[in-house]
Amino acid sequence: MAKTKRIGILTAGGDSPGLNAAIRGVGKTALGYYGMEILGFRDGFRGIVEDRRLKLDKSKLAGILTIGGTILGTSRDKPHRMLIDGRTRDMTSVIVENYGKLGLDALVCLGGGGTQKNALHLANAGLNVITLPKTIDNDVVLTDATFGFATALDIATEAIDRLHSTAHSHHRIIVAEIMGHRAGWLTLGAGIAGGADVILIPEIPYDVAKIADAIRRRSRHSANFSIVAVAEGAMSIDDARAFKAAEGKRERARTLHDKKEAKVELAALESRHTGNTMRLARQLEELTHLESRVTILGYVQRGGTPSPADRLLATRLGGACADLIHENVSGVMVAARGDGTEPVPLEKVAGKRKTVPPDHSWVETARRVGTCLGD
Ligand code: F6P
Repeated sequence: MAKTKRIGILTAGGDSPGLNAAIRGVGKTALGYYGMEILGFRDGFRGIVEDRRLKLDKSKLAGILTIGGTILGTSRDKPHRMLIDGRTRDMTSVIVENYGKLGLDALVCLGGGGTQKNALHLANAGLNVITLPKTIDNDVVLTDATFGFATALDIATEAIDRLHSTAHSHHRIIVAEIMGHRAGWLTLGAGIAGGADVILIPEIPYDVAKIADAIRRRSRHSANFSIVAVAEGAMSIDDARAFKAAEGKRERARTLHDKKEAKVELAALESRHTGNTMRLARQLEELTHLESRVTILGYVQRGGTPSPADRLLATRLGGACADLIHENVSGVMVAARGDGTEPVPLEKVAGKRKTVPPDHSWVETARRVGTCLGD
């Protein structure tokens, strides 16, 4: 008789709505449909290092579909660079050892871009790893979507809807900061769905003077208020140039000294970027003479009940993940493809990011309805 398969599961990186739905999707299919055993590890990769395990039986998997966050907890710990007793250590061999000791046949890692990279690292160390794509940023390559995005899109759109009425009443500019350091999907999607007048994303550096012109034109011809949807990582043309130069320096650096110098320069630019949304609002107030206010949506976008679309996606991906484990497939991410799913080799996903192409149809759509993209 074939041995009962035993799988481990963990959630890593920033949390997002739909993680519990995915845990349940993997767990119920693995347990109920295939008769496997399933162990959860708490707080990301640290959970398997420190053997913080928890048996996921039927009762643990019940009632979690609609709950936000992750019942397993999460962290941004990396297997090969983990802070242990005040020291950064490579814990890969400990993970490999614990995987073996626990008799695991596969390890399921739920996460975004960083997790895909860490998962590949463990696959290269010999583990049977399988991942699911999660993040509100929707920036994982080779999948139609990531779970978490649809819910965050609902939340950010609702926020923009609500900001409209107050901006209108006070004849103000309201600058709404939406999450996304490197990818603008959430800001662009919510900006279009919420009818923002200006949408600023990291992929399209902006010129403040052009934004102010668009707002002034609006004040003269249509409405004396404006909503600006700005991604966390959006930046002016000058700042984008400075970042690019510093990143180039870091990539070209050969000596330890040059590497350190480039790192310090990048850190200084990043710290200057904090507060960018406040600065932008101030600049727009000065240039347009319209009162400006800022709303930072922040972690509200990551919390709470997942939307039906995310529950459906997470359950579909979770079920497909259990199927693949049953078929002894590993070293892949379970991607969403049309109505179905598809295993994609981790090598093709790790270290890559799906950003918004400047000629993407959403960008064109926004431009054609008269939205200013800051360029
Ligand atoms: O990756 C998801 C995300 O919410 C980004 O949109 C955001 O920039 C980042 O995580 C925030 O990270 P943290 O939770 O570490 O503050």
